[in-house]
Amino acid sequence: MQNRLPTTYRIASVKKETADVQTFTFEVSLGARPGQFGMIWLPGVDEVPMSIAYDDGKQLKITFFAVGDMTKELAKKKEGDLVGLRGPFGTNYEWKKGQKLALLAGGYGAAPMYFTAHEAIKDNCDVHVFVGARSKDHLLYIDELGSLKGVTLHVATDDGSEGYKGYNVNQLSEMIEGGESFDEFLACGPEMMLKAVSGISSDKKIPSQLSLERYMKCGYGLCGNCVVDPLGIRLCIDGPVINNDICVQITDFGKYHRDDVGRKHEF
Ligand SMILES: Cc1cc2nc3c(=O)[nH]c(=O)nc-3n(C[C@H](O)[C@H](O)[C@H](O)COP(=O)(O)OP(=O)(O)OC[C@H]3O[C@@H](n4cnc5c(N)ncnc54)[C@H](O)[C@@H]3O)c2cc1C
Ligand code: FES
Repeated sequence: MQNRLPTTYRIASVKKETADVQTFTFEVSLGARPGQFGMIWLPGVDEVPMSIAYDDGKQLKITFFAVGDMTKELAKKKEGDLVGLRGPFGTNYEWKKGQKLALLAGGYGAAPMYFTAHEAIKDNCDVHVFVGARSKDHLLYIDELGSLKGVTLHVATDDGSEGYKGYNVNQLSEMIEGGESFDEFLACGPEMMLKAVSGISSDKKIPSQLSLERYMKCGYGLCGNCVVDPLGIRLCIDGPVINNDICVQITDFGKYHRDDVGRKHEF
C-alpha cells in the first residue's frame, strides 16, 4: 500500500543534460528494477509517469523532457525543492546471465537503458547499447554508457552529426545482416522505434522486450486508463515492459494511443 501513496523528497542535485532535458537525483530508493516507472507529483499541478533512470538502493534518478504543463513546471525546480514520488510500478526488463543483449534507446529511453546496462553487466552480459537521437545535441547518457565496462556503445543520429547516419534500428539491422547475432533485444523509446524493433524481432526470431507507454493515472491497475486493444491488459501492471509476442497482438501498437479521457490519437 505504501508505494501507492506519494511521499515528498528533496531534490539532491539537478543535471542539465540538453536544452530541454534534465536529470534530478534524490537521496532515496524505491527499490526499482530497470524498466519500472514512478509517478512524479507536483502538488497543485499534476502527476505523471516517468521511468526510473537509476536506483542503486541509495540514490534514485529521473530524466525528463520539458514538454507540457507538468514537465515545464518540474523543470523550474531546483536543488532542495520538494517533489512527490510513488512507486515503483510495472514490469522490468529481464535477462539471463551471460546473454548477448542489444539495448535500443531513443529519446529519454537512454536513461532507463543506462540503468538496464548498468545492472546487466553485473550478470556478465555482453551489452551493446544503440542510442539514437535527432542530432548530436540531443544524445543522452553517452558519457555514462561509454564509461561502463562490458558495454559497447553504438551512436546513431538522424542527421549524421555523430556516429551512424540514420536510425539506430537500421544500424542494428545492418549489423545483423552482416552476421552479428544477439540473444535478445531490449528497447525503450518512441513507439515507431519500438515498432521497428518488433519487426526485426519477429523476422529474425530474436525475442524482444519493449517498453510501451500509455496515458497513466493511478499506476497500479485501478483506473483502466492504460488499457490496450483488444487484449484489455493494463500497461501499468502488465507493462510497460512487455514481450514482443504480446506486443504484436496489440492492435493500437504503432497506430494510436488514448488520452486522459479515452480519445484516440494517431501516432
Ligand atoms: C511508463 C512511462 C514512462 C515514462 N517515462 C518518461 C521519462 O523517463 N521521461 C520523460 O520525459 N517522460 C516520460 N514519460 C512521458 C511523460 O509521462 C509525459 O511526457 C508527461 O506526462 C508529459 O506531461 P506534461 O503535463 O508535461 O505534458 P502534456 O502537455 O500534458 O502532455 C504531453 C504528452 O505527454 C503524454 N502524457 C501526458 N500526461 C501523461 C500521463 N499521465 N501518462 C502518460 N503520458 C502522458 C501525452 O502523450 C501527451 O500528449 C513516460 C510515460 C510513461 C507512460
Ligand atoms: S494507470 Fe490506472 S489502470 Fe493503469
